[in-house]
Amino acid sequence: MKGILLAGGSGTRLHPMTLAASKQLLPVYDKPMVYYPLSTLMLAGIRDIMVISTPADLPQFKRLLGDGGRFGVRIAYAEQPRPDGIAQAFLIGRDWLGGEACALALGDNLIHADHLSQLLRNAAKRGTGATVFAYQVRDPERYGVVSFSDDGKAEEIVEKPTAPLSNWAVTGLYFYDEQVNDIAPRIKPSARGELEITDLNRVYLEMGTLQVEKLSRGCAWLDAGTPDSLLQAATFVQTIQSRTGMLVGCPEEVAFRMGFIDADQLRRYAGHLGKTDLGRALMELADGERV
Ligand code: G1P
Repeated sequence: MKGILLAGGSGTRLHPMTLAASKQLLPVYDKPMVYYPLSTLMLAGIRDIMVISTPADLPQFKRLLGDGGRFGVRIAYAEQPRPDGIAQAFLIGRDWLGGEACALALGDNLIHADHLSQLLRNAAKRGTGATVFAYQVRDPERYGVVSFSDDGKAEEIVEKPTAPLSNWAVTGLYFYDEQVNDIAPRIKPSARGELEITDLNRVYLEMGTLQVEKLSRGCAWLDAGTPDSLLQAATFVQTIQSRTGMLVGCPEEVAFRMGFIDADQLRRYAGHLGKTDLGRALMELADGERV
């Protein structure tokens, strides 16, 4: 399975911070925002990743992530000239995907959960259909919303409904089988002119092959699209890391724990981070002083 990391858009809700910088490169505490969804894809065991961004921002992503070797993955890049919708990612990545199954992570979404890697690996291993994750929020009208029948089956999925049928938001992390390559080109632009990921998910729902995993209350799902949510995400990461000493959303750490890189490689990259707390933490991990 391959993975697409979508980091386009103009980040208008974060102006003027995003007038000259990509939203997904803004810091979330001690790391660039894109590190968090990159870590999520890697935790799912995915090692072929395409980063899609605007023509103006793509060079900065290349500078930050390179060919992915530092994380033991292969990173390809492609441009999304205009914000024409999330589902467009599969059209942009079509040749690179070569008909394979694909996960998609939005560059401003952060998921933190105890059993996350198991959940992700299960989704990646599921042979047919699609898997999305639902999370209870106070303001579902901001998101794609999924509602359930009495027996717990996903019934309807609607993008930014004015009268939401539930408070279960669909997070920005999606796993699709190879059929996505045929379904995505059939999606038509919505009233706001975008190729909606929710319309793609609805095709799977109607085929009866959309698996909706409810994230429990112990999980944290944050997006960082507004000044408040950006600050909340940063505070969340700072709180967990300083309280527990565990790292959140660190692709070098994930690479090491997943066996994508060895201790020598980790030590070298940790050295590049100098005397930062993050560099020290990675050095301890490489030296076996951390569990
Ligand atoms: C997008 C999707 C929406 C999803 C959300 C998750 O919305 O369209 O279905 O719930 O991401 O972050 P956007 O953030 O682009 O408005």
